[in-house]
Amino acid sequence: MSTASPTARAETFLPGPILLLGAPGVGKGTQAKALMAAYGIPQISTGDILRANIAHGTDLGKRAKSLMDQGQLVADDIVNGMVATRLQAPDVTRGFILDGYPRTRQQAGFMETLLTSQQPSAESAASDGLHLPLVAVNIAVDEDELLRRITGRRSCVVCKHIYNIYSHPPKAAGICDFDGSPLEQRSDDTESAFHERMKEYRAKTQDVIQYFSQKTGQFETVNGDKPVEQVTAAIEAALLRLRTSKR
Ligand code: AP5
Repeated sequence: MSTASPTARAETFLPGPILLLGAPGVGKGTQAKALMAAYGIPQISTGDILRANIAHGTDLGKRAKSLMDQGQLVADDIVNGMVATRLQAPDVTRGFILDGYPRTRQQAGFMETLLTSQQPSAESAASDGLHLPLVAVNIAVDEDELLRRITGRRSCVVCKHIYNIYSHPPKAAGICDFDGSPLEQRSDDTESAFHERMKEYRAKTQDVIQYFSQKTGQFETVNGDKPVEQVTAAIEAALLRLRTSKR
């Protein structure tokens, strides 16, 4: 769990709960890290939490590993429980970025109930980002580009910075620019697992995006097929509109 210091942009508005939606490889993790630095709120990635469980050899990790390696979704009750636990941490008060959750309609319903059940106290309401309505940003990228992004992805084993051997390579091959640690490739970043992940996305997650797209003033789509910094700027502009528009 890490939260960067907020920049001046964080003073403009309370970020509140932010969902980053989109297919595998559109850049949710990359953009969540940029928003975390901009707004000083944590990234909550269900994929990262599951991978940490696998790395620590927990029972949950053992149950999840083969499903993840095959590109299939882990059971709703497992990921719902992980998110409910994570949202009890004190660093979510101003807001948080959910990356890779919710991915099914059941998860979306669970999350909405969870957020509305946590009512703010009268004293904290004015400065309380946790109880703002959630806003969702969908990142759209052409599917032909996604396979290249997935198979080219490498991540630092220590700081988790995300690279891409085609579009964002490290200065020295296989070594993190920031801490000199080795880079690793995710075990589900294979072509066959990618196709299965896309099947799961079409069957279960597109419906979630459709559901949030009907919430006027709470949803925008940005073009993720641009350089990383331009996508970040588009997401920040969308968040500003969503947070300052009158519903
Ligand atoms: P998860 O870890 O969430 O994977 P995902 O959704 O498939 O998304 P990715 O992490 O692959 O991609 P991303 O959109 O974050 O892209 P990134 O920024 O890394 O889930 C993994 C598995 O865990 C699931 O399959 C499932 O089994 C399980 N799971 C997780 N959550 C679950 C849930 N809620 N319910 C059930 N099961 C769950 O970028 C990708 C690459 O592109 C990088 O190399 C990056 O450098 C590059 N890149 C990023 N932006 C750009 C750009 N603008 N231009 C060029 N390259 C770019």
